[in-house]
Amino acid sequence: MIDCDQMPTSRLQDEQEYTLSQPRLPAGPAVKLLFWLMDRVYGPDASLSKFRVLEVVARVPYIAWEQVSYVAITHTHSTPGFARRIHSEIATYRDQQDNELYHLLILEELLQSERVRQGFWRYRVVPQALAWFYYHLSWLLFALRPRLSYELNAQFEDHAEHEYMAYVASRPELETRRWLSDFGDDYGTFDSVADLLRNIAVDERHHKLESLERVEFARFGAGTK
Ligand SMILES: [Fe+2]
Ligand SMILES: [Fe+2]
Repeated sequence: MIDCDQMPTSRLQDEQEYTLSQPRLPAGPAVKLLFWLMDRVYGPDASLSKFRVLEVVARVPYIAWEQVSYVAITHTHSTPGFARRIHSEIATYRDQQDNELYHLLILEELLQSERVRQGFWRYRVVPQALAWFYYHLSWLLFALRPRLSYELNAQFEDHAEHEYMAYVASRPELETRRWLSDFGDDYGTFDSVADLLRNIAVDERHHKLESLERVEFARFGAGTK
C-alpha cells in the first residue's frame, strides 16, 4: 500500500484517466519475452486470472534486491554509514514486496469468490516457472548493474499499471460490484472492485516511479538513493 489515505472514487477515476492518457514505457527484450509468453499461455486479453499470474511474478525483483543488498552489507559493514544506507533501501524493498503480496492475495480471494477455475499447470506451475526466471534475471542484473534491474522493473510495473486501468475502463460493471474482503484492514476498503483495481494500478505506478528514480542513483558507492 502506498499510503493509508484512501482515495475517493472521483480521484481514482482521475488517476485512471491520467494513466490511460500516458504513453507506455518502451519494453526491453526481457519484458517483451515475458509478456509474449504470458499472452501465449493465458491469451492476449486481460483477466483477473492473468493479473494474478502477473502478481506472482511482480514480487520477485524486490526479493532479489533485498537478498543482494544483504550480501552487500556483509561486504561493506566496515563502513557503517554506507551499510546503513543500503539497509534503508532494503526497508523500501520490503514495503514494495508486501504491497505486491497484498495484490496477489486480494486477486486470489477475488478469483476464489467467483469460483474461477484455476488449472494446476497453467495457474500454479507456469507462474512459478516465470517467477523463477524473472527472479534470477533481476538478481543477476542487480548484482552486476543495478540500473538495468531497476529499468526492467519499471517496464514491468508500467505494463501492470496500464493493464489494470484499461481493464477497469473496459468493464463498467465493475463500478457497481462491491468488494468484500478479509484484507480490508490490511490494504484499505473500497466501494467497488473498480476502485480496488484502480488503487492497485496506482500502487504499480508508484513502484514504477520509485524504480525510475533509482535508475539515476543505482550504484552502491555513488549513494544508494
Ligand atoms: Fe502488483
Ligand atoms: Fe508493482
